[in-house]
Amino acid sequence: MRSLITFFSVLALAFANQPNPSKVICYYDSKSYVRESQARMLPMDLDPALSFCTHLVYGYAGIQPDTFKMVPLNENLDVDKTHANYRTITNFKSKYPGLKVLLSIGGDADVDETLKYNVLLESPQSRTAFVNSGVLLAEQHGFDGIDLAWQFARIKPKKIRSTWGSIWHGIKKTFGTTPVDEKEAEHREGFTALVREMKQALSVKPNMQLSITVLPNVNASIYYDVPAIINLVDIVNLQAFDYNTPYRNPKEADYTAPTYKPQNRNELLNVDSAVSYWLTAGAPSNKIVVAIATFARTWKLDSESEISGVPPLHADGPGEAGPYTKTEGLLSYPEVCAKLINPNHQKGMRPHLRKVTDPSKRFGTYAFRLPDDNGEAGLWVSYEDPDTAGQKASYVKSKNLGGISIVDLSLDDFRGLCTGDKYPILRAAKYRS
Ligand SMILES: *[C@@H]1O[C@H](CO)[C@@H](O)[C@H](O)[C@H]1NC(C)=O
Repeated sequence: MRSLITFFSVLALAFANQPNPSKVICYYDSKSYVRESQARMLPMDLDPALSFCTHLVYGYAGIQPDTFKMVPLNENLDVDKTHANYRTITNFKSKYPGLKVLLSIGGDADVDETLKYNVLLESPQSRTAFVNSGVLLAEQHGFDGIDLAWQFARIKPKKIRSTWGSIWHGIKKTFGTTPVDEKEAEHREGFTALVREMKQALSVKPNMQLSITVLPNVNASIYYDVPAIINLVDIVNLQAFDYNTPYRNPKEADYTAPTYKPQNRNELLNVDSAVSYWLTAGAPSNKIVVAIATFARTWKLDSESEISGVPPLHADGPGEAGPYTKTEGLLSYPEVCAKLINPNHQKGMRPHLRKVTDPSKRFGTYAFRLPDDNGEAGLWVSYEDPDTAGQKASYVKSKNLGGISIVDLSLDDFRGLCTGDKYPILRAAKYRS
C-alpha cells in the first residue's frame, strides 16, 4: 500500500510543473561580449540558461559586400584562436546533447552597406556564393544549421501630426504602408529561391536545420511566400515586437509588443496578427515560434505628456540610457527592475517608476515616471517581465504553436540581480504557461 502511495506521489510530482515540451529558442547576441561591467556577458554565462533552451541561435554573421559571402561579423571574437566564440558556443553541445545550435545571419547587426541584402537576392551567382560559404562556415564550426534573419526593408513608421506644437492630437488614420523597396516582388522571389537553395545545400549534410527569423517591422506578407517556403524550413521565428520604438516613433510612446490589438491601433501591428498571417497562408502551427523580447523600449515624457501615463501618449524621443547597456531608448530587464525598486529616500536619486500591469493580459505591462518640476526625468517604459512572458507562452500554447524564443539572453537578468534567479524571463516563458 505504502509503495502504491509512493508510486502515485512520484507520478503526481512528475506531472506537476511539467515544462512545455515545445521549442524554446534562445538567441545569443555576441555583441554583449563587449558591453561593460554587469552587462558584459561571456559565453560561460550562457550555461545556466542552456538547460531551458532547445535551440541556441548565435547572432550574428554578416554578408561581405563585394563577394556576397557569409562571414563572421567579428572575426577576432567569433573565429580567431584567442576567443573562437563559434566553437566555444557549439561545444556546449557536449554538455547539453539535445541542444541545437544555429548560426544566424543578419539580425540587424550587419550595418555595413545594408542594401546588399536586397542586391544579393537579385542574382543567382550571389546567392550561390552566399549559400556555399554559409554552409561551410556553419559546418566548420560545428553548428547544426543556419537561421536567415534577413534584413528586408521596413514598414514606414506611423506619422504623428501635432497642431500648434503644444496640443497633440492622436491622428490615427495614417499608417505608412508604402515600403521603401521598389523591387518588392523581385526580392520576394529571390528570397524564396535563396531558401530553396540553402535548403538543398544543407540537406546533403547530416542533420542540418534551416530556420528563418522575421525581423521586427518587416512586412511578412510582402517578402515571405509562405506556401513556397514553409516546407523547406524547420522553424519560423516571428520577432513580433518593436511595433513601436522611440527611434521609429519618437513623439509617441506606446506598447511595443501587444499580443492583441489595443483600441484604435493598426490591426496588423500585434503578435496575433503576425501569427495569423502565417497560419492563414498555410503554415503548420508547430513551425511557428513567437519571440519574447528581454529588453524594454523607453521614451522621455515631458510637460505635454498626458499625466495618466496611459498609452499612446505624447513623448519627446528616446528615454535616458541605462547604466549598463548605455543606449538611449533601451533598457535590459535587470535595468528595468532596478528602476522599479524604490530608492526614493536616497538623496539625489530619481524616484522609482510606477508599474502598470494589464489584467486583460492582452497588451503588456508598462511603467512610468512623470517629469519633475523642472520638466526633467520623465520616462515611459514598455517591457516584458516574467508575468507577461508567461502570458505570451500561454498564448503560444493555446494556439498550439511550435514554441517561444527569447531575444536575447544577454538582456535577460543573466546574473540574477533582480530576485536572485538567473534568466527570469526565460524561466517564466518555459514554465509559466
Ligand atoms: C503589408 O503589406 C500588405 C500587402 O502589400 C499591406 O496590405 C499591409 O497593409 C502591409 N502591412 C503594414 C503593417 O504596413
